[in-house]
Amino acid sequence: MIKSKGWDWTIVKDDAENVWKNPSIESFYLLNRWMSQEKKDFLDLGCGIGRHAILFAKNKFNVYCFDISEDAISKTKAWAESENLTLDYQVGDMLNLPYEDNSFDCILCRNVISHTDTEGMKVVIKEIYRTLKKDGECYLTLGSKDTWGFKQEDWPLVDPNTRLRMEEGPEYKVPHFYADYNLIYELFKDFDIINVYQVIDYFKKEDRVNDSYHYHILIKKR
Ligand SMILES: C[S@@+](CC[C@H](N)C(=O)[O-])C[C@H]1O[C@@H](n2cnc3c(N)ncnc32)[C@H](O)[C@@H]1O
Repeated sequence: MIKSKGWDWTIVKDDAENVWKNPSIESFYLLNRWMSQEKKDFLDLGCGIGRHAILFAKNKFNVYCFDISEDAISKTKAWAESENLTLDYQVGDMLNLPYEDNSFDCILCRNVISHTDTEGMKVVIKEIYRTLKKDGECYLTLGSKDTWGFKQEDWPLVDPNTRLRMEEGPEYKVPHFYADYNLIYELFKDFDIINVYQVIDYFKKEDRVNDSYHYHILIKKR
């Protein structure tokens, strides 16, 4: 299994305009869904600098923040404290979550669990299964094999589904696992799959070569 490597948040500008400071569109749907299901214990798995942790904490969830990057956790903590919010924080590797079995009603891991190889992916999925309560739900995203990154033949191929990202920036040499529809159904066979859809982010109107394709997946523990 490849060694885990988190983001280098020290080189990301941390201002209000930053995309990583603004909750994703689907997080508002999840907030509404999980409030109406009276879910309480929420794990932000790979929380980054806290945009979803803060949103859920403001809406009275018990929020657990987890990331491999110490800088990510300290930035999340500083933000939460500035809003007078009390959250739980842990630095660690998603391959070995420091939580008891059946701990969480809901888990969000947006643009996180792809940061491993195929073997690691199977381990993370087991960890999500283990730490979710029965009927608990998890929303996650996976990079798609249709995306430009998977087509970069000069980026090292770690296994048939995984490349090391070689662009300078916060993700330099971070492993990226890429999925397709059949692989998703195989990986999540122990869960109920509520829905799977593929989203395209259009970054460059002129040539479309940097369009970014992700699967968005909502699953439930039986
Ligand atoms: C693209 S950022 C997404 C952050 C957050 N989920 C969001 O949507 O704002 C990916 C995050 O996953 C974390 N990460 C990468 N590999 C990890 C691992 N093995 N264990 C825990 N966190 C990891 C990175 O440090 C980074 O903060």
